[in-house]
Amino acid sequence: MPTPTPKPSWIEKGYVDEPIPAGIDLKTEIRRLAQEKNAVILAHYYVDGALQDIADFVGDSLALAQKAATTDADIIVMCGVHFMGETDKILCPDKTVLMPDLNALCSLAESCPAESFADFVKAHPDHKVISYVNTTAATKAYTDVVVTSTNARQIVESFPKEQKLIFGPDRNLGAYINSVTGRDMLLWDGACHVHERFSLEKLVDLKRQYPTAKILVHPECQGPVVKLADLVGSTAALLNYAVRSEHDTFLVATESGILHEMQRQAPQKQFIPVPPDDSTCACNECNYMKLITLAKVYNSLRYEWPTIEVPAEVCEKAVQPIRRMLDISRELGL
Ligand code: 13P
Ligand code: SF4
Repeated sequence: MPTPTPKPSWIEKGYVDEPIPAGIDLKTEIRRLAQEKNAVILAHYYVDGALQDIADFVGDSLALAQKAATTDADIIVMCGVHFMGETDKILCPDKTVLMPDLNALCSLAESCPAESFADFVKAHPDHKVISYVNTTAATKAYTDVVVTSTNARQIVESFPKEQKLIFGPDRNLGAYINSVTGRDMLLWDGACHVHERFSLEKLVDLKRQYPTAKILVHPECQGPVVKLADLVGSTAALLNYAVRSEHDTFLVATESGILHEMQRQAPQKQFIPVPPDDSTCACNECNYMKLITLAKVYNSLRYEWPTIEVPAEVCEKAVQPIRRMLDISRELGL
């Protein structure tokens, strides 16, 4: 029987730590519970492949926000990280948003504490404020418009050339957008611990080994890695390029979870993850995304906990820049 109130041990751990009943098939049970409770399961490309397989929808951060904004489900299960769950809750305040493990944070979002960002914004009153979606709801509350890696360039370009801009929190994405738009946005000094770790040296070695391979790079990577790219783009852009391309080998510099969908959509092609610089492991994984497991999704649906809650006053402010992003993206056909 579902427990209506969370146990102290769950609160302490940040997830439901109940044992999984013996002999059940987790995938089947999750799908059964989702149907019974009218829940939609949304998954980012970086979560474990088994979760991508049982999700109702798998996408990049823009597509996930768009999906949440239009769903008629009663419950949204976010298989991703905390800021994604917050975005869903802000867009759907009347729905239950389940985050199967509250420890699934994002180092990039955490690199931009709301109070410090507010001081930065206050110190530059003549600047408009653009925030990457990888921010907490509290940071979004100090923002004029939110962007994702899919729409950042177009949204920046939608401001008049003379408009002074702040861009936070990702210094790599900000520098990349500055370089392709010719803008001089003031950058917050934040970064993602996964994308910062790609090894330029190992990428160059791989390119020597696979000279015809195309290099796919997420714009959160550091400048020297971005410079070697044949395509710089969001997870969805990298995926679409790889699937449609006439080429058959790709070196992929983003979190290695994306390879699951790349390989599923183009089984005949070869996708090689670019390794991080500080390990012998071939893959570069986001430890936060990998906290979400089938067992935690099952238990969170079963007990309808942990939920994402966003204070009403934060919600009221943060919803505006998120809605602005969705409106502009719709106008742009993104
Ligand atoms: P996308 O917008 O490409 O999905 O990126 C999200 C993310 O967290 C990248 O690290
Ligand atoms: Fe955040 Fe980096 Fe993980 Fe993306 S890969 S969720 S930016 S920590």
